[in-house]
Amino acid sequence: MKSYDWGNQIEYLKRSIRLYYNDDYIEFLIEKVWKIHSPVHILDFGCGFGHLGLRLLPFLPEGSKYVGIDASAKLIELARGVFQDLEYNVEFFVGDIHTFHFEQKYVMVVCHGVLLHMADPVFILKRMSDCVKEGGKVVAFEPHWISSHASFHFEGIEQSVAIPLGPLQKLFEEDAKSTGKDGNIGLKLPLYLNRLGLHDVECRVSDKVNILDPESNSETAQMLL
Ligand SMILES: C[S@@+](CC[C@H](N)C(=O)[O-])C[C@H]1O[C@@H](n2cnc3c(N)ncnc32)[C@H](O)[C@@H]1O
Repeated sequence: MKSYDWGNQIEYLKRSIRLYYNDDYIEFLIEKVWKIHSPVHILDFGCGFGHLGLRLLPFLPEGSKYVGIDASAKLIELARGVFQDLEYNVEFFVGDIHTFHFEQKYVMVVCHGVLLHMADPVFILKRMSDCVKEGGKVVAFEPHWISSHASFHFEGIEQSVAIPLGPLQKLFEEDAKSTGKDGNIGLKLPLYLNRLGLHDVECRVSDKVNILDPESNSETAQMLL
């Protein structure tokens, strides 16, 4: 199967980073959920241009380090450029998350929007958990597309007309069956993590809601257009 080149989607990746989470939600995760109060080393599987690093580092204790790995040399080059003038401790590798040899273990291993594109996401989760230090955390930010579709509202249009969940549900199910790639992976992750033997598994849903007001010139509105 031909693999998809994310290096050609730089603009899309850059544009979409503000759509998923509010900054206060990220801060809440770091302080209240993950309870990170001293410097941590974080490894990001499929880091792209370092999106998660940009979102997490401002809220992480000083002295923290962000390490990213991605298959796209173009995106890693962009990541190095993006962080070049920022005062954060970062390191980037070009490599395949299926096979890359990681020299050390991390307090936290994360991924964002990656498992849904994997033919065998549980294998990647296992690789992530193998890179975590005893007592550390595996964190996967992944979508559960069908539930986000149920939350769409278009003014003046009945939801069942714009978003027919029935056929979409079938479409996602068929796609996952034929490719292994599962856009509805989000809510299945706790089950997979439990099966891998991880404990204290938790699941959260982002509080971000995007509003497209045609009258508004806000940054979010522009991104949604
Ligand atoms: C949807 S993008 C998400 C990128 C980034 N995590 C973000 O949030 O912007 C998926 C990323 O996974 C990377 N990727 C896909 N297959 C990979 C593999 N086998 N090894 C390493 N990275 C991979 C792609 O190059 C791409 O950057």
